[in-house]
Amino acid sequence: MGEGELSIDPWSSTQSTDYSRIIEQFGLSDFNNLTLPNPSHLHRRGIIFAHRDLDVVLEAQKIGDNFGVLTGLMPSGRMHLGHSMVIEQVKWFQDLGGDVTIAVADLESQATRGISLQKGREIALREYVANYAALGLAPSSTNVYFQSTRSAVQRLGFQLGKRTNLSEFESIYGFKGDTNLAHFQAPMVQVGDILHPQTEDYGGLRPIVVPVGVDQDPHLRLTRGIAAKSNWFNLKANNGPGVLIGLSVQDENAELLGQQPNGRIDKSKVAEIFTKVVSSLTELGFSDINSNPKQGTIVVPGATKKDLTSIRIKLLELERRLGGMGLLSPASTYHHFAVGLTGQKMSSSKPKTTIFLNDDIATITKKIKKAYSGGQSTIEEHRRLGGNPDIDVAYQYMMYFFEQDDNYLAEINSDYRNGKVLAGEMKQLCIDKATDWMSNHIELRDQTEHLVDDFLAPDSK
Ligand code: TRP
Repeated sequence: MGEGELSIDPWSSTQSTDYSRIIEQFGLSDFNNLTLPNPSHLHRRGIIFAHRDLDVVLEAQKIGDNFGVLTGLMPSGRMHLGHSMVIEQVKWFQDLGGDVTIAVADLESQATRGISLQKGREIALREYVANYAALGLAPSSTNVYFQSTRSAVQRLGFQLGKRTNLSEFESIYGFKGDTNLAHFQAPMVQVGDILHPQTEDYGGLRPIVVPVGVDQDPHLRLTRGIAAKSNWFNLKANNGPGVLIGLSVQDENAELLGQQPNGRIDKSKVAEIFTKVVSSLTELGFSDINSNPKQGTIVVPGATKKDLTSIRIKLLELERRLGGMGLLSPASTYHHFAVGLTGQKMSSSKPKTTIFLNDDIATITKKIKKAYSGGQSTIEEHRRLGGNPDIDVAYQYMMYFFEQDDNYLAEINSDYRNGKVLAGEMKQLCIDKATDWMSNHIELRDQTEHLVDDFLAPDSK
């Protein structure tokens, strides 16, 4: 890691909130060029602030193609408001037509937190899935599974281990010689989680989006790199117009390409495969295709950046027919972390920093009353100088969780800034909204309790 560079450690208890630097350093995309159908409050308020390849998923959605959503949870403690943000996003994608897969990271939790598989299962069902039901996920298109019982995930993680190495783990995660191997195994299982929904047994090739907190981006970088390295065909937009396709020779296709012990490949076999590429591209409507098996390249002069995804998917389909894995890099979205009630990081191991989804109203009221405030120290000063909603937890929680109405928020935001609304009043507004939200949530949880089992995939009942 270079000097002055940021690192993201998914296991750390601290987390950088320098989001624009994160975007820049890790090559995330912002939302400036995307139009979202029916944006949720998390989108409208910039809480979901960055993505990778979300355009691929939105395009599939727009033209009615299949797409999937996958996320995962670590069953280690109680579910709190911060966790609910991911589920809100999953629900948003589900409402747009995506199928949903949720990994219970019981292997990761066992290896990195010392939680037994039995205990992990109990926590997942009681704390998490029960709340997913209440948050409105539809059981008919949701599959919750356990890492420990889905061998396809474990196999994929193991198999793809050959596409990465120690140096890459060092550079992505900052691992050293004394890092225990569970921290290598857990990300590889997560790679399996993220990629397996596109295998034939779990829904087949389609774009998969992974909504997560930005602390999980290292795993996405790892997964995307691994998927790209496994691809038999590379493609990129040419410098001028056109798209350039190359062939990647690797162990998996060496026999198909008639590779000799000296490394040379059989040009006639390449020509055969290129004929298949050309016919795949013709199906997309391209007629002008320059295939050059001797050089190992194909150029589609009439294609542009906009065609990259459809070409990529055609090539992955072909790769699969030829015996390859045909893995599409996952898309992802990232949200800001809500500040903890105390002004520090929200954490399930510090109950005062957060509101749990099974806290009762009295507890919630008490917690919000004590929350970190953006008000001035005396009423007189507050009236004169105004408060700061950007750091006021009560305001922030209405914005993140409890208040749907943007106009109302804008109003109390400016009333707070100009001193019209006092810090105590802001807390009371938040308590009222939180009470409504939680009462409704408790009622929904009672109503949907019987559905918990329906969320479980057949291999996880
Ligand atoms: N590592 C994640 C966490 O700490 C849990 C997880 C496991 C996950 N598999 C995943 C998240 C796949 C997203 C996608 O919370």
